[in-house]
Amino acid sequence: MEKKIEWWKNAIVYQIYPLSFKDSNHDGIGDLNGINSKLDYIKNLGIDVIWLSPVYQSPMDDNGYDISDYKRINPIFGTMEDMENLVSNIHKNGMKIIMDLVVNHTSDEHQWFIEAKKSKDNPYRDYYIWRDQPNQIQSVFSGPAWTYNEATKQYYFHLFSNKQPDLNWHNPKLRLEIYQMINEWLDKGIDGFRLDVIDLIGKDIDSMSLSDGPYLNQYLQEMHDHCFKNRDILTVGEMPGLSIKRASEITNQKNPLLSMIFQFSHISLDEIPGQGKWALKKLDLVEFKNVFNKLQQTLFEKGWNSLFLTNHDQPRAVSRFGNLSFRKKSSKMLATVLYGMQGTPYVFQGEEIGMTGVQFELSQYKDIETLNMYRDHLQKGYKHDDIMTSIYAKGRDNSRTPLQWDDTQNAGFSDVQPWIDINPNYKELNAKKDLAEKDSIYNYFKELFTIRKKYRIFDQGTFELIYPSHHELFIYLRKTKNEAILVIGSFSENRIEIDLSEYSQYQCLITNETPIDLKQTVIPPYYCAIYYKKEDYHANH
Ligand code: GLC
Ligand code: CA
Repeated sequence: MEKKIEWWKNAIVYQIYPLSFKDSNHDGIGDLNGINSKLDYIKNLGIDVIWLSPVYQSPMDDNGYDISDYKRINPIFGTMEDMENLVSNIHKNGMKIIMDLVVNHTSDEHQWFIEAKKSKDNPYRDYYIWRDQPNQIQSVFSGPAWTYNEATKQYYFHLFSNKQPDLNWHNPKLRLEIYQMINEWLDKGIDGFRLDVIDLIGKDIDSMSLSDGPYLNQYLQEMHDHCFKNRDILTVGEMPGLSIKRASEITNQKNPLLSMIFQFSHISLDEIPGQGKWALKKLDLVEFKNVFNKLQQTLFEKGWNSLFLTNHDQPRAVSRFGNLSFRKKSSKMLATVLYGMQGTPYVFQGEEIGMTGVQFELSQYKDIETLNMYRDHLQKGYKHDDIMTSIYAKGRDNSRTPLQWDDTQNAGFSDVQPWIDINPNYKELNAKKDLAEKDSIYNYFKELFTIRKKYRIFDQGTFELIYPSHHELFIYLRKTKNEAILVIGSFSENRIEIDLSEYSQYQCLITNETPIDLKQTVIPPYYCAIYYKKEDYHANH
């Protein structure tokens, strides 16, 4: 008898960035009722879980990742009633919903901080991190991680913008307040959380141990015991600074602190090591394959993995890892290679139609990280053109332009000028057009997800790279006792000859072209396919 697995292991998750999904009330800003009007589009893709980026009350310094009230909905997105209505409709459609949980920091406009900054003996003072003298830690959004507070003559700590003061997790009273808030949302019926930069909550500022700090396990365990333990929910921790080995420990099958985490090794390979994301380096496919191999091997039967290439912080996958001259083929290829692995698939809005990144004028960018970096680099002597090259490659607004629904004005996202410009390619690239085409990316994703759910090998099979040192082909073999799949993805615009004849009895399950014959293999540009074989169990036993 096969053992029953947790529902979230073969669920498909779709991330919505609410600002840019669909505007329903003519203000150019996506909102909850907009999402509600498009549930069919999501459901029909084969999605099981919707993850909403933050919709809480916020001054939007970092687009909602700066929360000023965890218990309120930001009026630009709608009301609490709209939220409850959305949750109930998602459930009625047989899907689940997880929310974003941002508890490493709040907004400086949160009531706790407004109190805390008043005086050193304010009851909320210790909810945040204060020092007489700053140390050298720099903000992720450029400049020092410390801002001086005149009234109390101390500095407060903020790893992100100065409007995002970090919470002091060492304070047990604060921790209990957070757990209570988490439980209130779970009691409302949501199905879990994506936990924003949660690897930072165990930090020790004075020893400069930030990510995966000394208290991480302790606080996660406590949060787990207070909030997650007796609930059947999905928790996914965003942990940019966590090693693969630690990812496996935190999600270990015996005592998982979280269902899964977002681990970042595979998406930091196109930067110069130690110099940060803006220092561009060409991706080496062998390195890319090695990282996935390590993730797959390390977590196999120990922890659980999440499968993603894009989100609201990462540039569009097809622009970054694919090839825009083969946009449709390479979008499908990336999805096939990624979602053929073990782990829970994540789709970022627009990925299912192969949306691409943008090359805007500086004045069109909105993202605080991009704008701060631009100023900082200019001051340090970088040239405008070089900075722009980095922004085109890595800027977060690449994935934050509105979803392109159709070819009408503003891409059917809104009937007024949106908060951020639409990608100018929307007339050629939009959901309506994609769905009408024979080689639709959306329909390919849908078919891929159907296949993933049909064969248990996708959540159970082993993983082995085939031709591991090939620089243009990503090929792997997965096996269970009586099934095997061969997944092939080409990252090349050339035809490549390779010997795969030993797999010639495998049947093609899905491909982005006519299936090729594995007896005499020439792999076409950006080809992808999954081949399947069922062992004759009785013949071998
Ligand atoms: C996470 C979010 C990102 C945000 C940062 C600070 O990385 O995904 O959008 O800017 O945390 O909250
Ligand atoms: Ca709106």
